[in-house]
Amino acid sequence: MTTTTQTYSIAVIGAGGKMGTRVSDNLVKTDHTVFYSESSPAGQERIRAAGRKLTDTPEAVRDADIVVLAVPDLALAAVTADIVPQLKPGAIVLTLDPAAAYAGLLATRDDVVQAVAHPCHPSIFLQRTTPEEYADTFGGIAAPQDAIAAIESDDPAKREIVEATVRAIYAPVVDVHWVTIKQLAQLEPTLVETIACMIGDLLKEALDEAVDTMGVPEPAARAILLGHTQVALANGLRGDNPFSDACLIAMEYGREAIIKDDWKRVFRDDELDKNLARMLHLEAIER
Ligand SMILES: NC(=O)c1ccc[n+]([C@@H]2O[C@H](COP(=O)([O-])OP(=O)(O)OC[C@H]3O[C@@H](n4cnc5c(N)ncnc54)[C@H](O)[C@@H]3O)[C@@H](O)[C@H]2O)c1
Repeated sequence: MTTTTQTYSIAVIGAGGKMGTRVSDNLVKTDHTVFYSESSPAGQERIRAAGRKLTDTPEAVRDADIVVLAVPDLALAAVTADIVPQLKPGAIVLTLDPAAAYAGLLATRDDVVQAVAHPCHPSIFLQRTTPEEYADTFGGIAAPQDAIAAIESDDPAKREIVEATVRAIYAPVVDVHWVTIKQLAQLEPTLVETIACMIGDLLKEALDEAVDTMGVPEPAARAILLGHTQVALANGLRGDNPFSDACLIAMEYGREAIIKDDWKRVFRDDELDKNLARMLHLEAIER
């Protein structure tokens, strides 16, 4: 864990958007020098309403040790093409999702460091004690979470700046896990969006099917699904209890009926590229 108390100059670009607002709400609580830039009038209004001062992008990034790019992934190529030439040597560009960095869409410079960080969101197994912790499912407000980070530099001083920034923007943070940009892309989107979020959405569809098509009373269906979802995750991911013999047979039927034999192909490099190309609205990923 980094224990540095050093402060940095941090520029947040897209500070009036969803992530920009979240990271800004946390950065104001730190001693870092923070500049907020935003291009849309609605986003600018949100920044002013939050009591923060707007700064034009060239001024915000001029002396920045690290630039947090909270702009849409589809804008990152153009935004980095504009900003990277303006940075001081040794500055760090931090994106909040690995897709564009892994796809090679970001403008780079030999003396500018590229980094990516993504919040893990608070664990379903987190021991929550306060109403604020229970309410904070996204993280960054009250419930502790981990974060994943990747950096294209061997310089420990640069890593320290990224870690301090990540701990500040996603606070409260327990651990920052360091991986490569490619590994971060294998985690997000593949592991957590393509698989985990898709299954969460499928559960909702299954609930609707039980209620709307089968006619089961909604409170009964919802109650049994939410309880069993906890059991499924506690048994499956943490080994709390073995699944019952009957449940194992039903699970096997579910796999045969629902899951394709080759589903793990989603982790393959070519499939990751296809997934990212779709997300980034590209014909194909060309590196
Ligand atoms: N939304 C999430 O839950 C979430 C979670 C983790 C990571 N991310 C990542 O965070 C980043 C931002 O996503 P978001 O959902 O907050 O997007 P958003 O659309 O809510 O906000 C983006 C903001 O950037 C502004 N903007 C666009 N171009 C700009 C420019 N040239 N200069 C200044 N401001 C500009 C927009 O006006 C908007 O206010 C993306 O990389 C996304 O993948 C999002």
